[in-house]
Amino acid sequence: MKASATPGPCPRDFGIDLDPLRLSADPDGQAHVVEAFTRLRPDWARLSQRIVFKPDSYSRCRLYGDDNLEVLLLCWLPGHATPVHDHGASWGVSMPICGTLVESAYRQRGAGLALERTVRATLTIGEVAIERGDTIHQVENASSAPAVSLHVYSPPLARYGAYDVDTGIATPVAPPADPCG
Ligand SMILES: [Fe+2]
Repeated sequence: MKASATPGPCPRDFGIDLDPLRLSADPDGQAHVVEAFTRLRPDWARLSQRIVFKPDSYSRCRLYGDDNLEVLLLCWLPGHATPVHDHGASWGVSMPICGTLVESAYRQRGAGLALERTVRATLTIGEVAIERGDTIHQVENASSAPAVSLHVYSPPLARYGAYDVDTGIATPVAPPADPCG
């Protein structure tokens, strides 16, 4: 089923104006998207209805989706982490809106070689991580408190690569099930 077949509720209901984010169709507009993303002021009264914490892994709630982009809400308990992953054919931006997350970036060193970690940085509320076509990273909640983050991907993230850090080999995977679906 195509993403546009089941668009979510109007993201304005959550304090998210999609119009500036649609510049993501133009690669030169990505800086504008990042700037617009930092100005989002989520409506917590409404957003809180979509927050789901799961015991075993972070949850992923799709707030909106069409052919061009999707808006996701991710909820993390302490210790939850993504695999080391790329973003397939998509690019995106993400930002904690509650709590903190840690992003570790990696680079490939060659066939069969372990990935090299190049950056490990804490993201606080309002700090935007940019996920480009060549970005390989892991995001985790390394704190002792829950965290919530907003993500925008264009086009919607359909498949991505999950990496074995020791071999550098990526396995294609689909995004995890949506608890709001
Ligand atoms: Fe990512």
